[in-house]
Amino acid sequence: MTPSTATAVARQTNDLDAYWLPFTPNRAFKRAPRLIARAKGMHYFTPDGRAVIDGLAGLWCTNAGHNRDPIVAAIAQQAAELDYSAAFHFAHPKSFELASRVAALAPADLNRVFFCNSGSEAVDTALKIALAYHQVRGEGARTRLIGRERGYHGVGFGGISVGGIVNNRKFFGTLLAGVDHLPATYSREHQAFTKGEPQWGGHLADELERIVALHGASTIAAVIVEPMAGSTGVLPPPKGYLERLRAICDKYGILLIFDEVITGFGRLGHAFAAERYGVTPDLLCFAKGVNSGAVPMGGVIAREGVYNAFMQGPEHTIELFHGYTYSAHPLACAAGLAALDLYRDEQLFERARRLEPFFADAAMTLKDLPGVLDVRTVGISAGIDLATRPGAIGERGYEAMERAFHDEDLVIRITGDTLAIAPPLIVTEGQVVEIFEKTARVIQAVM
Ligand SMILES: Cc1ncc(COP(=O)(O)O)c(C=O)c1O
Repeated sequence: MTPSTATAVARQTNDLDAYWLPFTPNRAFKRAPRLIARAKGMHYFTPDGRAVIDGLAGLWCTNAGHNRDPIVAAIAQQAAELDYSAAFHFAHPKSFELASRVAALAPADLNRVFFCNSGSEAVDTALKIALAYHQVRGEGARTRLIGRERGYHGVGFGGISVGGIVNNRKFFGTLLAGVDHLPATYSREHQAFTKGEPQWGGHLADELERIVALHGASTIAAVIVEPMAGSTGVLPPPKGYLERLRAICDKYGILLIFDEVITGFGRLGHAFAAERYGVTPDLLCFAKGVNSGAVPMGGVIAREGVYNAFMQGPEHTIELFHGYTYSAHPLACAAGLAALDLYRDEQLFERARRLEPFFADAAMTLKDLPGVLDVRTVGISAGIDLATRPGAIGERGYEAMERAFHDEDLVIRITGDTLAIAPPLIVTEGQVVEIFEKTARVIQAVM
């Protein structure tokens, strides 16, 4: 054991009290901590040196793998060159360079990039741009925002208002006014054990017509959806669903926002899900994979027409009263440029596309295990629903995640009793097999 890992282990026994962990059962965690000291490529290493395979790309973000040398070097060099420069009224060159590179990856005229620091901020930024867009065009009555049941759009008040996960909403008051929700697109009865986009469910987009009829199109600013809902268990869009949403939004002058915080940067085998599905939103939220999770960063890509709507009035006035101290932080931009180079040079999006059928077949080997109610796959991601123990929602899932880490040296994600697997895009076929074999043993152990 090196001195630094020894220190980490020593600290482990003393210092667990002060840190309030996010989205974590703190008491259970502190009884049996899952500590990660370092990482490389596909693996984490615990303080005592155990290699743990990362089945979740960090938290859906380290798409190029962990601690990639070019990203590490870019961050170090940037820190030495320019730590920070004011984000308002000033800019540094790499912010423009990264914006151009991100815009070049996005389809059609999605080519104006606003930077922030997380997926949650990206969502709230997009919602605010949508509201302000209608206002600056003289349609200020368009104030309603439409989200979707089972949607996850981060934890800002905007994001939880349009989001559709009850526990993320019910503790936090009345949320934003004037929000409505489309129905979730998932039906186990019609879709169980589907690889890719289910045949059933495209018609659910027509629920937007009902919502428009209820509220009046002239009151609706925007619709926001994840092309594939990741956080609630990998729910790919039904065939034709996104196209229909797009058509209805066009018909009524409603902006369509894609939250691509998970689907962006290769998870579905393309730079963005918008490209995979051939549907162009008006605003596209990204974060996570933009710099392979190395430095907090998020952003919104706007269509040119949306941006242009703001570019009026006297030139010395601010066009959008919104931004963050750390918008386009130099370290995040440097990491982003290095990550985009890696994605390009190693053709990681294409690699993900090629690997998708193999990955889906490997995931489906879990199908016949006792207690497995559904397996869904799309791109390099899989959701596995386990039967819930009577009266104990989430207990089996939590135990699965614990056993995966402690007994199988594997990190997976859980939402209730649903497991999610989404490794870095550098994962090999052998590692895909390893991850699903380990997951199978975990599932057997918790049944
Ligand atoms: C679709 C989606 N939107 C927004 C977020 C929030 O991102 P962050 O945790 O960076 O705020 C997430 C996080 O998983 C996400 O999956």
